[in-house]
Amino acid sequence: MKALVFGSLNIDYVYEVEHFVQPGETLSSENLRVYCGGKGLNQSIALSRSGVETWHAGAVGIRDGEILTNYLRDADVHVDLIMEKEVSSGHAIIQKTPDGENSIILFGGANLMITEKEADFVLSHFDENDYLVLQNEINQIPYIIEKAHEKGMKIVLNPSPMNACIFELPLSYVDYLILNEIEGAAMTGHEETDPDAVLNCLAEMLPDTHIILTLGKKGSVYGYKDQRFRQRCYPVNAVDTTAAGDTFTGFFLGSIMQGKGIREALDTAARASAIAVSRNGAGTSIPMLCELKNSDILFGNRMENMDINELKI
Ligand code: RIB
Repeated sequence: MKALVFGSLNIDYVYEVEHFVQPGETLSSENLRVYCGGKGLNQSIALSRSGVETWHAGAVGIRDGEILTNYLRDADVHVDLIMEKEVSSGHAIIQKTPDGENSIILFGGANLMITEKEADFVLSHFDENDYLVLQNEINQIPYIIEKAHEKGMKIVLNPSPMNACIFELPLSYVDYLILNEIEGAAMTGHEETDPDAVLNCLAEMLPDTHIILTLGKKGSVYGYKDQRFRQRCYPVNAVDTTAAGDTFTGFFLGSIMQGKGIREALDTAARASAIAVSRNGAGTSIPMLCELKNSDILFGNRMENMDINELKI
């Protein structure tokens, strides 16, 4: 069973600021750091570090993309399905505040240049029951989902960043939907972000999809048909929340692909994303598997610590 992440590769410019810039304000940044990122790249690294053989497909600029491809290769991700385009690679302008929160402006660049023919070529390397992981930072997503579904691949969607395109997707083909509470509220039309209401609504809208709703400091909740689990968040000193969600997605899925149950997958993902939040950067913040294995020292024993409750609905 193989994992294909068909997704974005970005160069992240992270500006440290006292607060997010306001309309009409000119704000000086105290520090600029440049990292390899993109939701796709981050999720590929997390999947690979969780122990799953991972292929990344996507597009970078022919002149500035090598750093991104090399970064993935160094993380043991297969990069032969990454295409080069005659435009700039995607990039993100990220403001990061002292409490580790971020706000992001994206420029799609090469990420938005994928053709149907290229998507067909990528998918021709994968078979029934291989996993396809998608976010919302590349073009051709509806086509990729249709074709992957025809092949019988397992489809995982992280509908981030949320925009109108998500509503055009054949969502009933999605096997795992991993999203945060804001995205969940947008998808269900809820004005409030009451996680249980959003989860129940998503589970009703998508009866054959496993739903994982991440809730930041409140942990995460899982729903599939009438099964519900709740996972706590592990407390850390938050330095940078960039890629925390991507780390969660990669480790959750990696655990599922390696035959772990939902409870263990949620716990592993919570630990991995807590470690990521305690570090700077996107790809750079994602932990190694050995760090996860030793994380009882940081967080305590999983079984003793578990407040994963099976919820009644
Ligand atoms: O999820 C974090 C990522 O979002 C960053 O690495 C940035 O590139 C944007 O895609």
